Amino acid sequence: MLNKKTIEDIDVSGKKVIVRVDFNVPLDENGNITDDKRIVGALPTIKYLIAHKAKTILVSHLGRPKNGPEEKFSMKPTAKRLSELIGQEVIMASDVIGEDAKTKAAALKEGQVLMLENVRFHKEETSKDPEVARAFAKELASMAEIYVNDAFGTAHRAHASTAVIAEFLPAVCGYLIKKEIEFMGGALSNPERPFVAILGGSKVSDKIKVIDNLIDKVDTLIIGGGMAYTFFKAKGYNIGTSIVEEDRVELAKELMAKADAKGVKLLLPVDNMVAKEFKNDSERKVVASNAIEDGWMGLDIGTETIRIFSDTIKNAKTVIWNGPMGVFEMPNFAVGTKEVAKALAESGALTIVGGGDSAAAVEQMGYAEKISHVSTGGGASLEFLEGKTLPGIDALMDK
Ligand code: 3PG
Repeated sequence: MLNKKTIEDIDVSGKKVIVRVDFNVPLDENGNITDDKRIVGALPTIKYLIAHKAKTILVSHLGRPKNGPEEKFSMKPTAKRLSELIGQEVIMASDVIGEDAKTKAAALKEGQVLMLENVRFHKEETSKDPEVARAFAKELASMAEIYVNDAFGTAHRAHASTAVIAEFLPAVCGYLIKKEIEFMGGALSNPERPFVAILGGSKVSDKIKVIDNLIDKVDTLIIGGGMAYTFFKAKGYNIGTSIVEEDRVELAKELMAKADAKGVKLLLPVDNMVAKEFKNDSERKVVASNAIEDGWMGLDIGTETIRIFSDTIKNAKTVIWNGPMGVFEMPNFAVGTKEVAKALAESGALTIVGGGDSAAAVEQMGYAEKISHVSTGGGASLEFLEGKTLPGIDALMDK
């Protein structure tokens, strides 16, 4: 299904292999990694390269540094964490394409791993000028003989180290990208049915393209979260002070009509947890979707909705979830999101959680192990679900 060459299709033994990973991990104020899922996700590729005697050079970004090298954006914490995970030293370079990186890359022995500094310390990495990006990508490529992209989380960016570099080296994908595409692409192209998608989040505008793409594929589309109120408005309901995108009300109508025309069941919340204020300890109550009073705002799905959504998930064979059902940062309005996560964890279906907030929710609640696939991509998985081609994958060699 993935028509791109992988590391198994190329001889890496004794070769210098530059691997783009996405070690853009969250750090606390002391620089400690709070979630190492993306590093763990890259382990199969890194371990394969070590076992096959490659000389591995890892390159990644962390955050969005704008002014060159800055300690708070250093890759050092990720190199340390990786070395704990693989049980061997990860050599750290103090620059990206400078003397230290080049000397250390040239001196690598078979099975050793080198981590370059944050590739975004160079503004050329994200440059929109193709010649600037090409020159930088060429410099990076000059340190290696093979390019492997395993940075699924950054595969939607056409940057020097994610896509342009593929012009200069034999370019293949790693196991993480392969796995992400097999799960998500498999669900989209050949799902076991019933196929249910649950989309949440606050804005219709963020999810229009996903809704539009998925309507052509799913049996049931569940819409929760803040964007449900734009749909309620389209149905003529009173929504009180709930979040709404007035300029998307017509679009919501069109999407409902499209679902109808395609015979896709579109489930909206039937009830909601509403509050007087946007505060965790605000006065709150559950009301039907067509009975939201003035002065109240919906901040979560209600109890009957949780039951209906959970039953739908239970009866599905394939489920894709992207976006929280309510304001889950506030414990009193996190119930809907938690219950949806629980329903996925307990379902016998193939379950896929698109990255970002919903991935964070299943991790926090300890359900990640019970989900078939939790994507390491936020923006990347969203773009993939929109049906877009991801430049970081497109650039690789075809099978
Ligand atoms: C992400 O966290 O979504 C990726 O690492 C991409 O980061 P970016 O949005 O800064 O390009």
